[in-house]
Amino acid sequence: MHQDVKSILVSEEEIKEITTTLGQRITNDYKGSDKPLVVIVILKGSMPFASDLIRHIDMPLEIEFMKVSSYGAGTKTSGEIKIHLDLNREHLENYNLLIVEDIVDSGRTLQRLTQLLKNRNANCVKTCTLLDKPSRREVDFVPDYAGKSIPDEFVIGYGLDYNEKYRNLPYVGILKSEVYS
Ligand code: IMP
Ligand code: MG
Repeated sequence: MHQDVKSILVSEEEIKEITTTLGQRITNDYKGSDKPLVVIVILKGSMPFASDLIRHIDMPLEIEFMKVSSYGAGTKTSGEIKIHLDLNREHLENYNLLIVEDIVDSGRTLQRLTQLLKNRNANCVKTCTLLDKPSRREVDFVPDYAGKSIPDEFVIGYGLDYNEKYRNLPYVGILKSEVYS
């Protein structure tokens, strides 16, 4: 695994700093609210990040999972997301929803997911991503919480995959181009 990494972009040390800081910000922002916080973990990529992040959110919360994929810009149905595992919860207006994602690239996935939950009556939907690639944006979407902005490189590790592999690397690294070319 490690030999396929060109360079480390976010070290284990920096991941700790990011999850600590984001957890503190989220705690401060939500602690005065009268509605329960529900963290929605987007499978599979955000599993390690969400797992670390929730342990830095110092208030009661509940966890849900969703698995979604965005139709690529090249397909005709680019206005939709495919839901592989849906949120099993009703009366979304009674909760503060926080979607946790590994990376925002074109922005389509989180924009559509936010819209979908709002269409189901959720009135507070916010997003938290570990990584953001702002230079790749195709739609007008800004995450509420972002751990780190990164350049336009394909990254792996700490949940992020290439062909389902490398998710278990403890850091985020840039994949060597010869691995996928
Ligand atoms: P978006 O809808 O284009 O913002 O898609 C974001 C999704 O694309 C993420 O949840 C990842 O699954 C995937 N993705 C985008 N960039 C990378 C990357 O550099 N490495 C691994 N997965 C990525
Ligand atoms: Mg993903």
